[in-house]
Amino acid sequence: MSDLLSLESIPQLQAEVRALAEQQGAVILAHNYQLPEVQDVADYVGDSLGLSRQGAATDKQVIAFCGVHFMAETASILSPEKRVLIPDLDAGCSLADSITAPDLKAWQEKHPGAVTVMYVNTTAEVKALTDYCVTSSNAAAVVEHIYAERGPDTEILFGPDMFLGAYVEKVTGRKMHVWDGECHVHAGIRPSDIERTRAEHPGADFLIHPECGCSTSVMEYVAAGDVDADGVHMLSTGGMLDYAAEKKGSGATAIMATETGMLHPLRMAAPDVDFVAANEAASCKYMKMITLPKLRDCLRDLTGEVKVAPEIAERARVPIERMVAIG
Ligand code: 13P
Ligand code: SF4
Repeated sequence: MSDLLSLESIPQLQAEVRALAEQQGAVILAHNYQLPEVQDVADYVGDSLGLSRQGAATDKQVIAFCGVHFMAETASILSPEKRVLIPDLDAGCSLADSITAPDLKAWQEKHPGAVTVMYVNTTAEVKALTDYCVTSSNAAAVVEHIYAERGPDTEILFGPDMFLGAYVEKVTGRKMHVWDGECHVHAGIRPSDIERTRAEHPGADFLIHPECGCSTSVMEYVAAGDVDADGVHMLSTGGMLDYAAEKKGSGATAIMATETGMLHPLRMAAPDVDFVAANEAASCKYMKMITLPKLRDCLRDLTGEVKVAPEIAERARVPIERMVAIG
């Protein structure tokens, strides 16, 4: 069947997906960037940290993971006894691709004794060389925790996202060694997008994902007093949803700088708030590879299983569990 859905087939496919999930004893987890019709059929929709937590906590034996490969891999590392399925095994991540295990090993050899902190957007092999994982919602808290435990002069290797690294440095006021990786979608949201949307919506709040190419410049505008600090929120996708819940009923306008799939859960959470994308073209092709027909097929045939070799999974579990415990 074609993945091009007619509007009529969506409810039918959703009903099929729900029936199959019931039949197979599966929970459906979806990231906030998933297609709206996929989000609407999930048991839980959330950010990377929330999805890791849900994956670890569920008592269902099958997890259908609607997100990208490293997310399903993380769920599988946390619950090796469960069957973790992804509707398309090719749904990758440009950020996770920006650092390999040999890259990280070579970097660590140059900085013996440094603590390695990696964004959860990495492969299992990279996690197996990592001391702490972070997501965008807890990166600063995890790094603060490391400084508090090991002393303020601790040397940290932070990767792979350079914009998130710059944000954490700003919050903690300390320099780390930061890998120069980026997510092509977020890096593409440029300072010029912020300038334009600021001019079009004066007085609007800004919700900015710290992976964005515009995040450093917005922090500079705030520091220069050019943009009112009260209206600028550097947030994970889950943090953006908390903002929506708070602003519901206010009729506010908020400019959202992240992947555009995020508009759907935001508008569901606060229909009266005018959420405007800073860059309408910021769409993650990997996230959009997950469709209802692929989800239906994977639940029906129990295909697309994500497995991690036990020796890698055992070591990779350490930084993920530290992250889940701290943040
Ligand atoms: P969060 O949902 O943790 O904010 O992550 C965003 C992202 O780009 C995941 O790939
Ligand atoms: Fe990876 Fe960027 Fe897509 Fe997130 S939006 S999955 S970081 S490529």
